[in-house]
Amino acid sequence: MMKRDELAQQAKELGPWFYPFDFGDGVKAESYTPPEVAGIFETRREMAERAVRQHFGARLPEISCLDIGCHEGFYALAMARLGVGRVAGLDVREENLRRARFAAAAMGFPQIRFMQGNCEQLPFAEVGQHELTLFLGVLYHLENPMLALRNVAAVTKELCLIETQVIDEVTGQTEWGAQAWTHPYQGALAVIDETVEHSSDVRETGATPLALCPSPRALETMLRHAGFRTIERVVPAPGAYEQLARGKRVVYAAYK
Ligand SMILES: C[S@@+](CC[C@H](N)C(=O)[O-])C[C@H]1O[C@@H](n2cnc3c(N)ncnc32)[C@H](O)[C@@H]1O
Repeated sequence: MMKRDELAQQAKELGPWFYPFDFGDGVKAESYTPPEVAGIFETRREMAERAVRQHFGARLPEISCLDIGCHEGFYALAMARLGVGRVAGLDVREENLRRARFAAAAMGFPQIRFMQGNCEQLPFAEVGQHELTLFLGVLYHLENPMLALRNVAAVTKELCLIETQVIDEVTGQTEWGAQAWTHPYQGALAVIDETVEHSSDVRETGATPLALCPSPRALETMLRHAGFRTIERVVPAPGAYEQLARGKRVVYAAYK
């Protein structure tokens, strides 16, 4: 166990933090996430935990979880606290993983394994397969969301929880080869340019600056094509963070 002064010193050196972690012993992370936005972390935790408990019940100690795009490990830690037997986190940024390893050790979960990797080109042999995967707040930062969903599905044995920003639904149809031939849209993907954030010190963007953000219907269609048989929307609880409450962000439980 780290002494309080050492804990406080290291937490300060690693700061500022994305999550407003409480490391115990009166040591709290200084977080750069504005307080009015930080509510999203607890809302997502509650939604994820509810879906995980409902599906796995008493099997929690027997299962393995991979948190993809784990950042500083907030949800990996939440799963370990919930009683999930084995937990690992994967992120493209080593600078986030360094903080995740510290947070997990400081909070009494040094057994959580954190590894560097890109979900658009997953090192499958190293990653393995997991009954539960988390894919929270990552999809809409990626230029290859469909490829990422296929990769995520490949490492998921039972349940994947996907949380993402979504664009307003787009309906309609397009000509498809001739004026008389048409295809209906299955939702749409918006092209977002995150060059400014990506080229500064922002630690939340994708590996590349271009991002494709889906509408809910597009996401559901992509999840089915990625290999998930059943897709259910997780309903936010009363008092949820405003974006989840308004359906501008969504959480899906996708089952293999
Ligand atoms: C907005 S943060 C979300 C963090 C966390 N999952 C959450 O919900 O609070 C996005 C995280 O995904 C990571 N990330 C972005 N692109 C990635 C990729 N292609 N592969 C793996 N991780 C990625 C970022 O480094 C960052 O830690």
